[in-house]
Parts: sequence; C-alpha cells; structure tokens
Amino acid sequence: MAMNTEIIELNEQNIDIEKLKRAAQIIRDLGTVVLPTETVYGLGANALSSEAVLKIFMAKGRPADNPLIVHVCSADMMSNLLHEPLDMRAKILIDTFWPGPLTLIFKRSELVPLEVCANLDTVAIRMPDHPIALKLIELAKVPIAAPSANVSGKPSPTMAKHVISDMDGRVDMIIEADRSRIGVESTVLDITSEVAVILRPGGITLNQLQEVLGKEGVVIDEMIEGEADKPRSPGMKYTHYAPNATMQIVRGDRNDIIRYIQSKIQSTANASTSVGVLCSDETKSHYRGACVLSIGSVHRLDQGASNLFAVLREFDQMGVDIIFAEAFAEDEMGLALMNRMKKAAGFNIVDV
Ligand code: TXA
Ligand code: MG
Repeated sequence: MAMNTEIIELNEQNIDIEKLKRAAQIIRDLGTVVLPTETVYGLGANALSSEAVLKIFMAKGRPADNPLIVHVCSADMMSNLLHEPLDMRAKILIDTFWPGPLTLIFKRSELVPLEVCANLDTVAIRMPDHPIALKLIELAKVPIAAPSANVSGKPSPTMAKHVISDMDGRVDMIIEADRSRIGVESTVLDITSEVAVILRPGGITLNQLQEVLGKEGVVIDEMIEGEADKPRSPGMKYTHYAPNATMQIVRGDRNDIIRYIQSKIQSTANASTSVGVLCSDETKSHYRGACVLSIGSVHRLDQGASNLFAVLREFDQMGVDIIFAEAFAEDEMGLALMNRMKKAAGFNIVDV
C-alpha cells in the first residue's frame, strides 16, 4: 500500500523555514517525516502519540519489541518524560555531549507511550547536533521519536539517495539534505545504574565518556558482541545493517589477512559468483579479481565508520554475492565501526 511521499530539499546552512513548517505540521498531524541528523537519517513521528509511533514501525517493518530513541531540542522538552529530575551525572553528560551523538537511557514517566519504549520502564533520549533536526523539533513543539530511516535490517541511511530508495512510498515526507556528518549511530548509554553502561558503541567514544565519568564510571556491556541470548538493549538481538551478500570478517595480521582474502577470491570468484572486498586505502591495491571498496585510511577510522553504510549499500548495487572484510582496530571510533561490521556479517568472523 504505497503512500504519496512528498520530498523536499533543505540546505542546512540556509534553511527554508516555510518548507520546514510543512514538515512540522505533518509531525503535529501524527504523520511520518524522514529527517537528517548528524549520525544517520531518522524516520520521525510525534513521540507522544502511540498512533504516530505505530506508523514508524509499519514503515520500517520493525519488530515492536525494539524501542525507539526520542529526540528533543532542549533539556526542558524532556523533563516530563522522566521519572525523576536529572541528577548531577546526567546534567554533566548533557552539558558535555548535547547536542550530539549520545543517547541516554533514563527511567521514564507515564507520558512515554508504550510503543516508544517497547514496554520497558526506561526511555532513550538524545538531542541531535543538526540544525534541520533541531529546528524541526522546535517547530513541531513535541519530541520526535526516530529510529534510523532504513528498512529494518538494511544498512542505516547516511545519504538522501539511501532514504529515497528505502522510504519513498512508505512515509509522508522525506527531507533531503547533505550526507550525515558522523555516519554511524549515536552511542547508547544506560545511566540508570551506578556505573554507566554502553549498550551500543557509536559517535561518542568510550574514552570521551571516561574523561567525564572517570575510568571506573563507565563500562561496555558484555552482551554487545552478540554472544549473549538476553541483550539489555533489545535492538542488539536483530540482524542489522546487512547487505544482500554474505559477509565474512577476516581478523589477524595485515599480511595474513591479505593472503587469506586473495586466496578466497581465487577459489570463490567465477562466472556466477561475484566477490567483494571491504578494505582500507592502505591495502586496496593488493586485491585482484574482486569488487574492491575501501572505507578509507586505517589511520582515520572515524571516517571509515562514516563511510561504512554507504559502502555496504554500494556492494548491493554492484550485485556482489559474498564480501570478505578486513577487520579493523577496535579502539576509538573503530569500536563502533567493527560493531556495525560484525552485525552486518551476522558475527561470521574468521581468525587467520
Ligand atoms: O544516531 C541515532 O541514534 C539514530 C538517529 C536517527 O538519531 N537513531 C537510531 O535509532 O539509531 P535506532 O532505532 O536505529 O536504534 C535505537 C537503539 C536500539 O539499539 C534500541 O534497542 C536502543 O537504541 N534503545 C532504545 N530505547 C532503549 C531503552 N529504553 N533501553 C535500552 N535500549 C534502548
Ligand atoms: Mg537502526
């Protein structure tokens, strides 16, 4: 049942407020709007309305037990969504990292629709660092619930063309803007416990959080690697970011990785099987006979993380059947990058 999707283009340096007011009116009328943020494009609706939020789940084909992030444009806007006033730690985190790619998990109030929090007693909130997103929330005068604007299971959209291909005909409006600056989703941080827990690595790194909370003040959830059968963040149990192709991550010393992948290309690629290699600028010249895409330099894994989703979609466009992906160092933004790669590969990892 295709909807009629209005597509508007906005320039974040010079926002056409009249156009954006139409988007805000759609949110107020309980419709759906795809909006740019600094992390990835989001699929937004009025976070205070069950009816509106259900449309997000419909458009994405998202399982109902995966809760949504609520986006606000001021700390005031969230006060009545919370069970208790902000404590010192929350205030410091907000002062330091908002607006920005940090989502905080709070105990929630009764005002949060059950569809938003998937029946949990907590709610995820962030303030996006993007002028169009902030202005849209301000004009709509309500918080906006927004998951990434991809069809459930697909790589998150970082470019307008990605959302058009996923969401045209499924939402009321798409706002086209520039490529997402961060290119990987926000860090999800649970601050309902004494020691804060990173439930999803993202645009704010562990080191950045430790600088504010102290080394002992924050840990990475041990479930993050997907081993566990009962994840704390419901989103972690689903296949995510997956390209159409099968994907395998190859981990080890650089030369062993290259040798393994090159031998796999030789034994796998033929007339009916097209092989992709996901690698770095430093290694790309070593591969022959495959579709080779680099995510950038290993010395700039922040840019690598930012390029990943677009590269995964490009492999789909090229019709690749199997992707061999070099593993990257799991520190700083490499942690978020490898987290998304492992999910894309369904945790298919080989150590060489
Ligand atoms: O950067 C982002 O966070 C983007 C942009 C659009 O803001 N949004 C995004 O939303 O990535 P989504 O729905 O794709 O991912 C939300 C994540 C999921 O892993 C979900 O399980 C987790 O946040 N989450 C939401 N509410 C939660 C809660 N109450 N407790 C634990 N995890 C929660
Ligand atoms: Mg998502």
